[in-house]
Amino acid sequence: MTLTISQRVQAIEESSTVKLFGQVEALKASGKQIITFNLGEPDFDPPAPIMNATRKALDENQTKYSANPGLKTLREAILVKLKNDNGIDAKLENILVANGSKQILYNLFQTILDPGDEVIVLRPYWVTFPEGIKLAGGVPVFVDTVEHQPDLALIEAAITPKTKAVLINSPNNPTGALYPAETLRAIGHLCLEKGVYLISDEAYELLAFDGAKHVSVASLDPAFAENTITVQTFSKSYCMTGFRIGFMVAPAGLIKAIGNLHSHLTGNVCTFAQYGAIAALTMDQHYLTDMLEIFQRRLEVAWPLCNELFECVKPGGAFYCFPNVEKYLGDRFADDNALAAHLLNEALVATVPGSAFGAPGHLRISFSCSEDDIREGYARIRQVLLG
Ligand SMILES: Cc1ncc(COP(=O)(O)O)c(C=O)c1O
Repeated sequence: MTLTISQRVQAIEESSTVKLFGQVEALKASGKQIITFNLGEPDFDPPAPIMNATRKALDENQTKYSANPGLKTLREAILVKLKNDNGIDAKLENILVANGSKQILYNLFQTILDPGDEVIVLRPYWVTFPEGIKLAGGVPVFVDTVEHQPDLALIEAAITPKTKAVLINSPNNPTGALYPAETLRAIGHLCLEKGVYLISDEAYELLAFDGAKHVSVASLDPAFAENTITVQTFSKSYCMTGFRIGFMVAPAGLIKAIGNLHSHLTGNVCTFAQYGAIAALTMDQHYLTDMLEIFQRRLEVAWPLCNELFECVKPGGAFYCFPNVEKYLGDRFADDNALAAHLLNEALVATVPGSAFGAPGHLRISFSCSEDDIREGYARIRQVLLG
């Protein structure tokens, strides 16, 4: 039989970061000592209280279906976290828990977009944003950032009668940019004025450097509760990527509609994993500050080394340097894809080409690995590029 694949799915591309992850794993399995500067997850195990609570939940047979929007105790703990950490006042009916923020975003786009509706996506962007929008029949409209920061005038100019939402992500993947409160407030007011949703992906909220703090746009004006959707996850802050738990805060009517979709898609998130998430929110939070300190030190090692070889704006958050590598392109390497492939094959260092994020001429170089690996990785890159 001829395999038929829907046009909808033909139109999306495999996540390039997930694909690269597979290639790197295969190289490692063949005995190659790869430095994994491609990683998009913390290299730490989940803190012990999370593991213990998850094991206990399994021992107690918390293995059945559970509430569609997430366990009530988990959503209650999320409300406390939102109030204390983010300054967001919400109620239970504003929260939906899903299988990672990937699924939150997928559910959201399916729920708010009709064919041809537009979502403004700041470029460089995280790989999943455009594909999730396209899967819902929507159109991603890319707006360039300036020195990795949003430009209000450019965003405003891109809003049309078809715009349904503006999507922001701070701290940013892939650039590491942290948006200041005044920028967020201005974007929030613009979205309110234009009557469009503001979607704020805050996956890296813990990781803000040099004493700066991540700011949740929803906390900046009570009026933003009307149109702002905050998307958060347990993946990065609590090192729980494999647990697949993310959540959203949104107007109750929207949560109800998304909940209907969610009830047919997967229903609840893995029940015993949710007990791990409750422990993450209620455990001593020193685990988080300890991890932030380690990432701050890694940044101080990685960024100067990166800047010696390339041109790189200092990351304000997340765990990525996103240098411009154009000075190496041309005769020797056709583009960032060729450069990244060369670094993988010759230096055994995995990086992600900027093209994956809509920014050719760049590389995403993660510093989610030990300081020794960071030094070794940059030494290998230097050796291959400069001899
Ligand atoms: C910006 C951003 N949002 C969301 C996610 C997905 O996180 P989750 O594990 O919650 O699906 C990632 C993962 O890399 C990310 O970089």
